[in-house]
Amino acid sequence: MAVQRYPAGGRPVVSRQVNSAVRFYDNHPQPADFYAEVLHGLRRQPRYIPPKFFYDETGSQLFDAICQQPEYYPTRTEMQLLHTHAGEIAELIGSDCLLIEPGSGSSHKVRLLLDALQPAAYMPMDISRAHLLKAAQRLADDYPWLEVHATCIDFTTELELHFCPPNLHKVAFFPGSSVGNFEPREAITFLQRVAEMVGTGGGLLIGVDLKKDETILNAAYNDEKGMTARFNLNLLTRINRELEGDIEPDKFSHWAFYNSDSGRIEMHLVSQTDNRISVAGEKFLFRDGDSIHTENSYKYNPDEFVRLASQAGFESVAVWCDPDRLFSLHYFTAV
Ligand code: AVJ
Repeated sequence: MAVQRYPAGGRPVVSRQVNSAVRFYDNHPQPADFYAEVLHGLRRQPRYIPPKFFYDETGSQLFDAICQQPEYYPTRTEMQLLHTHAGEIAELIGSDCLLIEPGSGSSHKVRLLLDALQPAAYMPMDISRAHLLKAAQRLADDYPWLEVHATCIDFTTELELHFCPPNLHKVAFFPGSSVGNFEPREAITFLQRVAEMVGTGGGLLIGVDLKKDETILNAAYNDEKGMTARFNLNLLTRINRELEGDIEPDKFSHWAFYNSDSGRIEMHLVSQTDNRISVAGEKFLFRDGDSIHTENSYKYNPDEFVRLASQAGFESVAVWCDPDRLFSLHYFTAV
């Protein structure tokens, strides 16, 4: 499978030539400044390093392993919802849609929709160029009828559409409850940008993890096999490798709990002793019990999320939940 490359802002030479190539657009996203963000995060109180830095090579593998753990229900529950309701979703969305997936990763979940939805084109967007290209090619190979327009872009800072025929109905696909990583205010801002991208009448199909029994939530982020702990602690290994750190990961432990006041899972790395560390030549003192906050994962009841999305200009069309009410899938249209 050949890949045609277009410069930023470029347009495909061949339009609608089905399956000859993956159309590829490159916005040359700036890689996140790991150095600046980690040092900034360690200097401030409370210490905080954002979760986007979990996903180095090892971190991405560990995340895939988390998704296989029996306690981590979101992935399999969402996939079941997509599979079960694909026909209904397709009916609501209708024909001739341009399906856009910000942060598409390996484009795994979209496969559950393609046969039913038959979109005119699929536009995966990801910051990781190599991963994006590989996934887009695999998809185009497996769905020869599907036009694939891959865009290398940091969707958290821009949502540019290089391919946007006016006759196609634009629908954003945002699975995985990734929206839970945003603070609710930031989630509204992000969804406003999505609404602008899809335009009036455009759609949003989004997966959102639900509030539920805290035992289930706490277990999902404290799996028996310790995959989530390894995922969290791998951040320290990454800091050591990429930022000349001398942190002993053994001196920290994984701590994840549901904070019911804020409606979110919090993950932290907690120092188990008084502990001096050095990162990029700068020294930091940790007291026994001091933490680095590494992730928030917000949970929303269906009505809470409908209210949040309405503040971004989206109107609820449908919500699907599994029988155990673990996870929700919402379909909205932009007003
Ligand atoms: C990828 C943000 C949806 O919050 O459940 C899984 C990340 N962190 N286990 C989530 C995660 C720990 C995941 N999201």
